[in-house]
Amino acid sequence: MNNDISKVLYSEEHIAEIVKELGTKISEDYKDKNLLMVSVLKGSVVFMSDLMRAVTIPCEIDFMAVSSYGDKTKSSGTVRILKDLDRDISGYDVLLVEDILDSGKTLNYLMDVLYARNPASIRICTLFDKPDRREVDIYADYKGLLVPDEFIVGYGLDFAEKYRNLPYIGVLKEEKH
Ligand code: IMP
Ligand code: MG
Repeated sequence: MNNDISKVLYSEEHIAEIVKELGTKISEDYKDKNLLMVSVLKGSVVFMSDLMRAVTIPCEIDFMAVSSYGDKTKSSGTVRILKDLDRDISGYDVLLVEDILDSGKTLNYLMDVLYARNPASIRICTLFDKPDRREVDIYADYKGLLVPDEFIVGYGLDFAEKYRNLPYIGVLKEEKH
């Protein structure tokens, strides 16, 4: 698996530090709120499990699954809900937890869908941001690390469902796409 990676962009230790900082910030901002962390499966599952343990205030969690990619490295532009939330989010301060903000189409769609359900508030926390690739006007309230316009894998992020279990963030070799 490691042989398919051209370079390590962010080490396990580096990611851990950033996640800790995000958790501290979120804990301060949400201390008097009704925090519901919503993870967008499957890419954000590793981030979610680390981030929720870096959050020191009471919170609840839920999961959604959407599909926008298939096995390609570019967004298809269509977003489908594969699994919806288990609960009514009205009255909750929803924090959408995403692995990466790329074109922004996925989160843009999700924000519209969830906003219509009348949460007390809704914000976005993304671990990785690829600002050069943005196609829609969307802004993350919490963001961890910037990523250049390269296809990355690891720490939950996949290529054709593989490499999610790498503990670091690596750039996938061109010939592997
Ligand atoms: P967006 O709708 O283009 O912002 O796409 C966001 C989704 O695309 C993420 O949740 C990832 O699943 C996937 N994605 C975008 N860029 C990458 C990447 O570099 N590696 C792996 N997955 C990616
Ligand atoms: Mg993906």
